[in-house]
Amino acid sequence: MRILGIETSCDETAAAVVENGRVELSNVIASSADIHRQYGGVVPEIASRMHVEAIVPVVQQALEEAGCTMDDIEAIAVTNGPGLAGALLVGLSAAKALALASGKPLVGVHHIASHIAANYLADPELEPPFLCLVVSGGHSQIVHVRDYTDFEIMGTTRDDAAGEAFDKVSRAVGLGYPGGPLLDRQARLGNPGAIRFPQTRFADGSLDFSFSGVKTAALTYIQKTKQQAQRAGIDWDKNFPLSDFAASYQEAILQALLHNCEEAVRRTGVKTLVLAGGVSANSRLRKLAEDFCLKHKLKFGCPPLKDCTDNAAMVAAMGYFVYKNGPVADMSLDAYTQGGLAEFCRRGE
Ligand code: KG4
Ligand code: ZN
Repeated sequence: MRILGIETSCDETAAAVVENGRVELSNVIASSADIHRQYGGVVPEIASRMHVEAIVPVVQQALEEAGCTMDDIEAIAVTNGPGLAGALLVGLSAAKALALASGKPLVGVHHIASHIAANYLADPELEPPFLCLVVSGGHSQIVHVRDYTDFEIMGTTRDDAAGEAFDKVSRAVGLGYPGGPLLDRQARLGNPGAIRFPQTRFADGSLDFSFSGVKTAALTYIQKTKQQAQRAGIDWDKNFPLSDFAASYQEAILQALLHNCEEAVRRTGVKTLVLAGGVSANSRLRKLAEDFCLKHKLKFGCPPLKDCTDNAAMVAAMGYFVYKNGPVADMSLDAYTQGGLAEFCRRGE
């Protein structure tokens, strides 16, 4: 069963065809990240305009590369939230138009669920139950995937997401946007124990995260070193310990993530931990999580680098399981800018 997936929740216009939720037949992405880079972050209006320009050729290319036409497609899956309203609406409108014209069913997919589903493409043997650490620009969550469409959120961020915390500090230190990969590259040259940054833990046993404290500590560190350099009459950027700073800051965030995963593993007793979302492309996180799984005798999984960030193959993969498990959407399917996974799955009940 072939599903066409469409993804436009942020700055990637993407379409893909996936067979039976497991086999990627095509995965086309047109990114407007280069344009946003000069503004230091995603400009929603520009993202929407770029989606409008790219969506038709991207869908056509995805069908062509998969060697099929709409006749070979069983259903159309589209990300309908959370994300940027204007951006989501472009993909959603395109999916509705295709569904209407072809008479094929329409399936709404939650963005985080689709990131999790990238793991079904990476490992065709992977089956729930398992734990997934979802870390992206907008989310940091530990999700207990009880079944393909049954999720329990065990911990979530109370403020910044991990990717957001990377992006903001990267900008402050002059590395640019998106910050995660840039800090990752610097961190490989540095010592993660060089600078002590705080980690927030909640006393009530909650597995939630908070990254605003470590982010503020990093911003204060940058500010202090700037003042010291100014007083000493030296160039700040030539003397700033960038690699050690990046390695230490990154480490504080990653250790906090894994600390809560350890407790989630203990509470659920699951035997598999997988990663998902843009931050799962982080080389240090992949290494730490793999070591963690070895230590705890867990099966470890993560999508290949290209499927960690936003793409449509993951939407088509998740769409397959939603299509098999639940009622399909109709033309009233709406876009949501916010909304957790658990809440999203209950919508339409
Ligand atoms: O999942 P994604 O593509 O979009 C959202 O749904 O948010 O994630 C984007 C985030 C950005 O914050 C980016 O800085 C981060 O993923 N990211 C990384 C790496 N590659 C992307 N963070 C850390 N290390 C990386 N190598
Ligand atoms: Zn994403």
